[in-house]
Amino acid sequence: MASSSFLFLLLLLVESSLVVDSAKKKFAGPVVNVTKHLSFPDFSLDNPRIVHDLRLLGSAKLSKEKSAVQIPDVSKAIDLRHLAGRALYSFPVRLLDPATGTPASFETTFDFQLNDSFVADSKNHTGSAGTESSHGGSGLTFIIVPDEFTVGRSGPWLGMLNDACDEEYKAVAVEFDTRCNPEFGDPNDNHVGINLGSIVSTRIINVSDIGVSLKDGSIHRARIRYDSPKRWIEIHLGSEGQEFFSAPAFSGFLDLSPYLKEYMFVGFSASTGNLTQIHNILSWNFTSTSQAFLRIPSEETCQSKIILGNTETPGGPRREPISNFLIFAAAVVLALAVLVSLYYNSKRRGDKPSTIILPENIQRPRPPNKPRSFTVNEVSCATHGFGEYEVLGSDYKGSFYRGKLPNGCQVAVKRFSTHFLNSNGSDGRRILKEICTIGRIRHPNLVPVRGWCHDKGELMVIYDFFPNGSLDKWLFGAGVLPWTRRFKVIKDAAEALNFLHSKKLAHKNMKTTSVLLDVTFRAALGDFGFVLSGSGSRKFESAVSQAADVFEFGVFALEVIAGRRRSDLEMEEEEEKDLLNFAWRLHERNEKVKVFDSRMGSLVNLEQAIRVLEIGLLCTLNESKGRPSMEEVIDLLATDRPIPELPLSRPVALFPYSSTTGLCAGYSCAPFQ
Ligand SMILES: *[C@@H]1O[C@H](CO)[C@@H](O)[C@H](O)[C@H]1NC(C)=O
Ligand SMILES: *[C@@H]1O[C@H](CO)[C@@H](O)[C@H](O)[C@H]1NC(C)=O
Ligand SMILES: *[C@@H]1O[C@H](CO)[C@@H](O)[C@H](O)[C@H]1NC(C)=O
Ligand SMILES: *[C@@H]1O[C@H](CO)[C@@H](O)[C@H](O)[C@H]1NC(C)=O
Ligand SMILES: *[C@@H]1O[C@H](CO)[C@@H](O)[C@H](O)[C@H]1NC(C)=O
Ligand SMILES: *[C@@H]1O[C@H](CO)[C@@H](O)[C@H](O)[C@H]1NC(C)=O
Repeated sequence: MASSSFLFLLLLLVESSLVVDSAKKKFAGPVVNVTKHLSFPDFSLDNPRIVHDLRLLGSAKLSKEKSAVQIPDVSKAIDLRHLAGRALYSFPVRLLDPATGTPASFETTFDFQLNDSFVADSKNHTGSAGTESSHGGSGLTFIIVPDEFTVGRSGPWLGMLNDACDEEYKAVAVEFDTRCNPEFGDPNDNHVGINLGSIVSTRIINVSDIGVSLKDGSIHRARIRYDSPKRWIEIHLGSEGQEFFSAPAFSGFLDLSPYLKEYMFVGFSASTGNLTQIHNILSWNFTSTSQAFLRIPSEETCQSKIILGNTETPGGPRREPISNFLIFAAAVVLALAVLVSLYYNSKRRGDKPSTIILPENIQRPRPPNKPRSFTVNEVSCATHGFGEYEVLGSDYKGSFYRGKLPNGCQVAVKRFSTHFLNSNGSDGRRILKEICTIGRIRHPNLVPVRGWCHDKGELMVIYDFFPNGSLDKWLFGAGVLPWTRRFKVIKDAAEALNFLHSKKLAHKNMKTTSVLLDVTFRAALGDFGFVLSGSGSRKFESAVSQAADVFEFGVFALEVIAGRRRSDLEMEEEEEKDLLNFAWRLHERNEKVKVFDSRMGSLVNLEQAIRVLEIGLLCTLNESKGRPSMEEVIDLLATDRPIPELPLSRPVALFPYSSTTGLCAGYSCAPFQ
């Protein structure tokens, strides 16, 4: 008894000394500077890298004549009003050290020219908007944003933010605003502002004061410098080829750290409103330096982890009262032990390095991502006994629960209902086999399978948890997903299906609730169908389910474009209740635009959206009448190859597609015509 508590105490002392040590050392590694430099002396298309390095979003283009980035895209737009666009450097830049919350220092210089849109007008583009009084809107920003696929709203929003940007959407911008929007606190139509996560500027500079007129049509040069240790920002203005004005347009204290994430995207955004102008960016360079602490493996911290793991036996022996004498004795023994080990260590120096020997009773951790089998007890613990507060959703096959594994991982558990398992056509073993097959594959657009549970008559699949939930909540909820995000989701889903099909697998449950969004709004396909009712050879089944996936993908694409469910019995007009029917009808009448979710407003890239709509309709064709494979769909989405001609009218009798059940819909019916 006494000896065991003595040993325990010894461990405790060693452990605490190591813990203190490692806490001290946590950030004490050598400091390294993470630097990034990018430079665009011009935006000439002759530079082959430019299409890789620059990401254009919304209404933005590279102008060949001017070797400049232009927002909006004059060549596409008939009406230049109410457009927004972005041009971002394609790769994320490190702008914050999360360990210390220290922002990066950066400096950027760029030349810009705000031209009125007379050039476009004379080509008969803007019609009546081309009068003298219509130019001057809205403005340009240098912007720092968390993702590379969001475009902000047009008009006074300068392409900076939109409705889908919640508090998590951090954005910093320096605006060069040529429009006075008193509701956003603008003093005049010629100012520079600093916007921190909001379109209302926290600092505003009236640049008329320093003799600058942003929209005089001349080339301006701006330099923004941020000094992180001093939390100091300086904005200089000047003109091309000349020195900057000696006094900065603005300088002052600014703590950017609350508005930054570790990795962000940098670039420009601009918009037009009732008034238009062409925002040209002619050259740009950017340099940033952020500090990081070199993380190298250290023997000590690992040893401390082993000891910690050993003593942390849940429900194990608790500390007993220990006499002063024992503490004294322990200290003496410890001191001796340290001396002895120091002595041996110093003697051993120069020998081969010592290796860590793992105590036998410590199991090597399994690879964290390898799916494994769980017991019902484990899953039950993780989900608070399948508590009703943990229910994420349910369908005819079963329910989804949120859960947390002992290692802290958040998971989503699909628990198949007994009703479903007992229904004919489902075979627990076959489902299990499929779960294991799916569990072995990995793709950025597939929700990883963490494991399964086949125990006590239950069958469950354990998936990674996606904090942003499923697409239907975003699509049919209160907010409005912008077109760029919808397009990305459709592309992501297509990639996932194509990957599955290339592995001779199928998803079999393609719908908006199966598409999950991660924090960056990347879409991943989960909630696999696993089972196809009916029997047949594997090869036959796989072909049938793949064709069904394509059909379902088509309906899914329509749902995303239209922002409504495939069947909506509350629609007033009879013909609108079934989305697929409705979309074909509108196609017949050549009124496809009416399918689009009107809440998206003017930010839709019409040409692209119509293309996607046509691809969606193509997918719902009879297999023998031109339904494409997922590979062909990807190709059509990624290129501007002409879409195969759609039949003029929907081949009605061919789809026993039932939108009222909404369940088996495509796959059990569509392929057998
Ligand atoms: C990192 O950058 C800072 C300031 O730019 C400089 O003072 C420091 O010497 C640099 N450190 C290293 C390791 O290069
Ligand atoms: C922009 O305006 C300047 C000066 O008014 C003019 O010289 C130039 O041709 C214009 N460029 C474009 C592309 O409109
Ligand atoms: C503008 O274009 C329309 C149709 O594209 C044409 O009917 C009209 O005559 C044009 N106006 C001018 C001034 O060129
Ligand atoms: C901006 O500066 C100009 C020139 O100094 C001045 O005439 C104008 O009143 C200022 N505007 C505001 C809103 O302060
Ligand atoms: C833009 O024009 C429309 C219609 O002419 C008008 O209703 C709206 O108030 C204008 N918006 C702004 C910001 O001037
Ligand atoms: C960025 O460009 C400006 C203007 O061309 C130039 O003066 C400056 O030296 C450049 N900075 C870097 C770091 O290349």
